[in-house]
Formats: sequence, C-alpha cells, structure tokens
Amino acid sequence: MEVAEQAVATLTENITEVAAQPGELPEKMVAWVIREEREGEPKDAFQLEEIEVPEPGAFEVIVRVMAAGVNYNNVWAALGEPVSIMRYGDHPQYGHHIGGSDASGVVWKVGPGVTRWKVGDEVVIHCNQASYEDPEVHGLDPMAAPSQRIWGYETTWGSFAQFTKVQAQQLLPKPKALSWEEAASYGLVYFTAYRMLLTRCNLQAGQRVLIWGGAGGLGVFAIQLCAIAGAHCVGVVSSAEKGDLVKRLGAIDYIDRNEFAGMMRTGEESPEQEKERFVASRAFAKRVKEILGDAPDIVFEHVGKATFPTSVFTVKPFGKVVICAGTTGYNLDFDVRYLWMKQKEIIGSHFANAYECMKANELIESGQIRPVLWRTLPFDGVAEAHQLMMENKHLGKIAILVGAEREGLGKSAEGPGAIYAEVGG
Ligand SMILES: NC(=O)c1ccc[n+]([C@@H]2O[C@H](COP(=O)([O-])OP(=O)(O)OC[C@H]3O[C@@H](n4cnc5c(N)ncnc54)[C@H](OP(=O)(O)O)[C@@H]3O)[C@@H](O)[C@H]2O)c1
Repeated sequence: MEVAEQAVATLTENITEVAAQPGELPEKMVAWVIREEREGEPKDAFQLEEIEVPEPGAFEVIVRVMAAGVNYNNVWAALGEPVSIMRYGDHPQYGHHIGGSDASGVVWKVGPGVTRWKVGDEVVIHCNQASYEDPEVHGLDPMAAPSQRIWGYETTWGSFAQFTKVQAQQLLPKPKALSWEEAASYGLVYFTAYRMLLTRCNLQAGQRVLIWGGAGGLGVFAIQLCAIAGAHCVGVVSSAEKGDLVKRLGAIDYIDRNEFAGMMRTGEESPEQEKERFVASRAFAKRVKEILGDAPDIVFEHVGKATFPTSVFTVKPFGKVVICAGTTGYNLDFDVRYLWMKQKEIIGSHFANAYECMKANELIESGQIRPVLWRTLPFDGVAEAHQLMMENKHLGKIAILVGAEREGLGKSAEGPGAIYAEVGG
C-alpha cells in the first residue's frame, strides 16, 4: 500500500465510531478538507485531515453525520472556480473548507436557544443559512438576506466529516422509510428544483416543460415534480441509458443531445457558424414540439452558455426560462429578439427557503417524490465521487457513508425508498 493510501486507511478505519456520548463532543474528528493552496481537480484538492470539532453557537446544532450527499458545488469549491470560496462566508475566520451541503444524521449537541430539536433526533439538513437578525429573513425571503449563504459551500463546517455545524432552522425530520444514504442524497438539488418550478414558475397541470440534464441531480427531481403536478415534460440527456431513467421518472420522452451537437454555443462562432448553429437549434426546438405537442411553457436551465440561446428560442411565446447555474459558462450570449418579440421571461433562481424545503420534504416522506441514487461510496470515496461528477459519469445522485456502517441502515418505516439508477459510469 502506498503512503497516501495508508494514511487514508488509518484515518477512515474508525470513521463510524465517535469518542463522545450524545450531548458531548470529542475534541477532534476526521474530515475531508480543502485548502486554498491545493485547489484544483477534486482528486487532489480533497484531503483527509484530523481537525477540531466546532462548538454550537446560539441557535446552532452539531449533527453527527451518518451519510452525506455529493453536489456539483464542491466540484467548484475544489477547483477554486469561478472564485475561491476561501474568500467568502466564514472561511477567512477558519482558513479551511469542509465541503458537503447534504446530510442525514443525528442531533448530537444543541446550542443556546434551540428548543425545536433535541439530542437524538434523526434529521436531514437543508443547505440555506441566513442571519436571524436580517429583516429579509422575517418578512421577505431568507434567500434575499445579505447574510444568505450555502452551508458546506460558502461555509466551513459541511457534511464530509463526522460532525457538522448547522443553524437549527436547517433541520428537517428524516423521512422514516429512507436509509441514511437515501436521506442524505436529495436535499440540495431537489429543493432547488422545487423552488424553480413551483415558486418561481408557478408550474401548473397541463403545462409543458423542457428539462436539460434530465438524468442529472437537478433533472431527476424536476421530472418527478412535473409528473406529480400533471405537467408534461421532456428530458435532454447524452445517452440512451440516461434516457431510460428519464422515462422511468415520468418524462414523456427524452432527446439525446448528441443528435443536435451543432446547437451548442461556444461563443467563438463566426457569423456563418452561428447561422449553422441556429439551424441545429431550430431542429431541436422542432423535436421538442413534436414530443410535447407544442412548445414548452417552461425551460429548466442550468447548463448556461452552451444551451441558453436554444432555450430562449425554444420556449413558447410568453414562456419562462428558469435558470440556476451556468455549468458550461455564465456569460450568456443569445439573440434577444426571440425574447422581446415573443415576450418571454428569464427567471433566476437559487436554492430554496426553509418553508419550501419543508413542503418539498413532505413529498419525500409521503413517497410521492423519491431520491434517485446511482452509487453509495464509503467515506474514503469523497474525492473520487466529485471527480466522477465533474467528468459527468454519474446519473442522479451519489451518497457517502459517514457514521452509517453499511448501506440500508436507518429505516424506521416501510416505504418505497429510493429509485436506483444502476447504469452508467
Ligand atoms: N443555484 C443553485 O441553487 C443550484 C442548485 C443545484 C445545482 N446548481 C448547479 O447546477 C448545475 C447542475 O447541477 P446538477 O447537480 O444537476 O449536476 P449534474 O448531476 O452533473 O447534472 C447536470 C447534467 O447536465 C448535463 N450537461 C452537462 N454538460 C452539458 C452540456 N454541455 N450541454 C447540455 N447538458 C449538459 C448532464 O446531462 P447529459 O450529459 O445527460 O446531458 C448532467 O447530467 C451545477 O453547475 C450546479 O452547481 C445550482
């Protein structure tokens, strides 16, 4: 065994044990840590370290992490792109980053003022934080608060560790029929998709929706939300295997984007090339219309630069393009005539507030929306999981076992559990 492998093995050997009773904290814990000097590909940026366990402040809770969920945000955190997160949130105070914006676990210690939760409660965690003192939190929306930040991305104490520090308002009851890893897998992307479609676009039965990345983290929940709302959707994917998953989740059909590779905007096109690109966008929009019966009322966007001109063109007059990311680039360049002449709307959206998270979580508890798990990896797989995600080799979600000794533990009721996406990779 190489020295690095040996070090990982030593640190993760007893990861499922903690040297303290509930209500007390050990001095140290094992965590995957990113530091500014090693930002780069996830396989290099994430390193295991022994690090202090934080104490909970007022209205804060320390949760023992049983399982964590993997999200694209910590691919960005590893890369240090588009900006280094070390300059934001509480990172300047601590000088390191423990990623992880999804978790299931057990309340281990509560800070002053916490009354809704007690030691021993089984929880999942939503990833929005905001200061109790900001007026926006009390009258507008915590997403509008100047203090708003994403736990485990813009904050230091995320879920790829034995313990995590969160605000009490982030806690939600763990759905009883889910295992630890299933419960840890869905929050960030599902709650984001919920706000995008239900709050920001007022999704209605009978509407038509185009979903980019239909087999990805956001996409698998956007499709299920459309299905239970009685809306008709088509998912865009890059393989037939992913297409099968999309149909299984309730999409009418899928489109393989490789058939329309020419529609992707690079930003480097000459006027002639742009004309050709537009021909491919037009053919794509025609296919969408054929599948849905008409142009979509809503386009669900997160790909950004490569697809945005096609999204604006494809959405129906007076329709909405709702966007929460720009994975392929965030400087968007599109022909605005299709926007103003047809009175279309572009709507920005970012995560969700605690009330939306609670309502969305009830649909998981009732089994109407199900987590979609591709793989569950042991704790030593955190860096590998982010690498797989960056390379777009996954479907749905990846979970990480932390305190849970094996998969399948933590269920206390019968229920449908997660959908398992067993292909790809
Ligand atoms: N603002 C927020 O609150 C928020 C919340 C969640 C996520 N995000 C961001 O949203 C983005 C997606 O997150 P995710 O969790 O859904 O990631 P994901 O699991 O990687 O899924 C994204 C999907 O996008 C598709 N895709 C990738 N490159 C593409 C391209 N060039 N053209 C068209 N489709 C492409 C891939 O599907 P195919 O290859 O099958 O097409 C992939 O499955 C990330 O940038 C993430 O950081 C933002």
